[in-house]
Amino acid sequence: MNDPSTLPEVARQAIAVFRRAASADSDTAISAGWAPGRMNIIGEHTDYNDGFVLPAAIHRLVALAGVSADEPFATLYSAHHQAWARVPLGDDVAFAGEQVPLWARYVQATWRQLAMLGAVPASAGFKAAIVGDVPLGGGLSSSAALEVATAMFAQSLGGRALPPLDVARACQRAEQAGADVAVGIMDQAASCLGRPHSAMLLDCRALTFTYVPIPEDAEWIVFDTGAPHTLATSGYNTRRGECEAAVARLAPVLAHETPGRKVHALRDITLADLMQHSSLLDDVLLKRARHVVSENMRTLAAAEALQKCDLAMVGMYLNQSHASLRDDYEVSCFELDAAVDVALATSGTFGARMMGAGFGGSIIALVRPESSARLCERLISEYPRRTGRNGALVPCALTGEAGIQAASGRP
Ligand code: GLA
Repeated sequence: MNDPSTLPEVARQAIAVFRRAASADSDTAISAGWAPGRMNIIGEHTDYNDGFVLPAAIHRLVALAGVSADEPFATLYSAHHQAWARVPLGDDVAFAGEQVPLWARYVQATWRQLAMLGAVPASAGFKAAIVGDVPLGGGLSSSAALEVATAMFAQSLGGRALPPLDVARACQRAEQAGADVAVGIMDQAASCLGRPHSAMLLDCRALTFTYVPIPEDAEWIVFDTGAPHTLATSGYNTRRGECEAAVARLAPVLAHETPGRKVHALRDITLADLMQHSSLLDDVLLKRARHVVSENMRTLAAAEALQKCDLAMVGMYLNQSHASLRDDYEVSCFELDAAVDVALATSGTFGARMMGAGFGGSIIALVRPESSARLCERLISEYPRRTGRNGALVPCALTGEAGIQAASGRP
C-alpha cells in the first residue's frame, strides 16, 4: 500500500469525488489506481512500424478511485464530464458501442482485456470516480493514461498484477477497440513504465527498453495549439495502411535480392533501399516510408545525444523530425507549423516539433532555462496573432509514474 502522504493529488481528489458522488460513508474502504500521460521526445509514427520511440511520463495523471461490485458492470463518474455512465463488463454482453461515451468505453474495453487475461474475474465489476489533469485531445495521451489507470485500479481492487508490458499491450488493444484506431504501443507503454526524470527508449518490436536520464540544464515546453486533434478522424489508419503497402511492395524485391533477408516492417528497410527501389513506390508511399525510416535513425541518435547531454544535437533532431512529419508524413497542420516557427524564432530554443499523432494537438520545444520565460511569452502573444487561435502552455514536469493504493479509509 502506498504511503498516504505520497498519494498524488489527482488520486486524492478521485477518492474525495468518489465519496461525494457515491455518497460513501467515511468507513468505506476505497482503492485507487493512477497513471501518467506522456510527452514524446522523438519517434513519431514509428511504433506501429516495429521501430523506436523515446517518450517520457509527465506529472499529469488520470486516477480512478472506488470499490468493487458483485455484478459485472462498471458504474463510473467522470469529474471532467460531470456525468455518470453504467457499462456492462461481461463478455457475453455485446460491445455497447454508440450508447456509451468514449471515456467509459476505454474503461470498459480495458477491463474486458484484463478479464480475458484472467487478471480480474469476469463476473465482478466496480464503481469508481475518474479524475485527471492530462488535457483531453492535446496529444499528451489522456486516453492511454485512463486505460492504464483502469488497469492499476483493477490491481488495487485485488486483481492479479501483470508484467507492465502485458498491461501496456492489453491497454493498447483496449484503445484500438474503444476508439477504433489501430494505435501502436508507445503511449500505453510510456504510461505503464515511465519513471521520473527519465525518457524511455523503447524498441517496439522486441519490446525491450532502456531509461535515458533527462538532463537538467534545459527545459521542455509543451504548447497546445488548440487545433482539434482527434485520432479517429486524423488519417492515422490511412497512414498505417500506407506504411504496410510500402512494405508489401518492397519486401519481395529485397528478399529476392538478398536471399534470407527478412523484411516485415519499415523497421527492416534502410534509406539506401528506398533510394535504390524508389521506382517501386508512388510519391506518397515513398514519402511515408522515408519519414519512418529516417525517424527511426533520428530516434536512436537523439537518445544517444540525450545520454551525452548534447542538447544542441537533440534540438537538431527535433527540428528534422518536424520537417519530416510535415513534408513526408503530412500529419502537421498550419497551427502546429506556426507554433514551431515561433519557437524556432526565439533565441535559446534548441529545437521544436509537433508531438503525437498530429493534425492538431501540441508541440514540444527544448529550450535553455534562461530563455524559457521569453519563449512562453512569445508563444502566448505571437501564436494567436499568426493563427487566430488561442493556444495554451501546458506546464509538464517529467516526474510521472503509475501507482496504486489498496483499499483504505479516509486519506
Ligand atoms: C498516437 C498513438 C501512438 C503513436 C503516435 C504517433 O499517440 O497512440 O501509438 O503512433 O500517435 O507517434
